[in-house]
Amino acid sequence: MENRSLVTIAEHSREKILYMLEMAKEFEAHPNRHILDGKVVATLFFEPSTRTRLSFETAANRLGARVIGFSDPKATSSSKGETLKDTIKMVSNYADIIVMRHHLEGAARYASEVTTVPIVNAGDGANQHPSQTMLDLYSIYKTQVHSLLMAMRHFNPTFHFIAPDELRMPEEYKIYCREHNIKYVEHTDFTEEIIADADILYMTRVQRERFTDLMEYERVKNVYILRNKMLEHTRPNLRILHPLPRVNEIAYDVDDNPKAYYFQQAQNGLYAREAILCDVLGITLDEVKKSKGVIQ
Ligand code: CP
Repeated sequence: MENRSLVTIAEHSREKILYMLEMAKEFEAHPNRHILDGKVVATLFFEPSTRTRLSFETAANRLGARVIGFSDPKATSSSKGETLKDTIKMVSNYADIIVMRHHLEGAARYASEVTTVPIVNAGDGANQHPSQTMLDLYSIYKTQVHSLLMAMRHFNPTFHFIAPDELRMPEEYKIYCREHNIKYVEHTDFTEEIIADADILYMTRVQRERFTDLMEYERVKNVYILRNKMLEHTRPNLRILHPLPRVNEIAYDVDDNPKAYYFQQAQNGLYAREAILCDVLGITLDEVKKSKGVIQ
């Protein structure tokens, strides 16, 4: 049987991504539908989350599915020593989809290999977070392009990776860029000159939970802070994205700038995740378009 799990965005072709963006758009127009009536979605969060868990659960609820799961693994039998494999096999008896976040890289891939129930990777440590990528792409699509044809053209961007040496882009990703002719430039300074030509400024949090050496975290945690005055000479179409939560990296005076898009971006997560839940169950865009029975 075909495994329709979403473990990494790398498994999606450009065409499939565009198809998923179309589906998200359809859900944005009508977020409430009975298309998952009778289905059960399990959300297994071994690590903390606000947006990802709640937007997946909202997506399931808005589509008529029921939700089971946990947000604190200490309240489950994994605290008694139950293995991830056994947990996944158990939950597979109860649910039609398993959405899971785990601190171990590769945990979602492993889970997808021990069950036939589709696994949606809601973050596996510092590795992959494909539903975040999908909502990021949907946000870029909505704010920067107005047709799929133009979106195709915009799939050929130049990246400026801005990071201190300790957090520079890992070599494997730079190799990937070179192999796929993706243009990139690396910087250690975060300056107005670099962002002046940008269409998208994607800020991220320095993830304290990924550091084994907290002294190193202290050295880099506040190295870049975006302030409103830095946006004065940026392009009119610039949008500032951030997966959230933020800590200090975007000053609050940016929030009222029309170029700040991170809260709308999080809202787009609902529509992108509605599309993901349907897709992993094999529900097509045509079926979504035809779906009736809007939930009141
Ligand atoms: N962006 C993101 O994954 O947020 P949460 O950790 O709150 O789910």
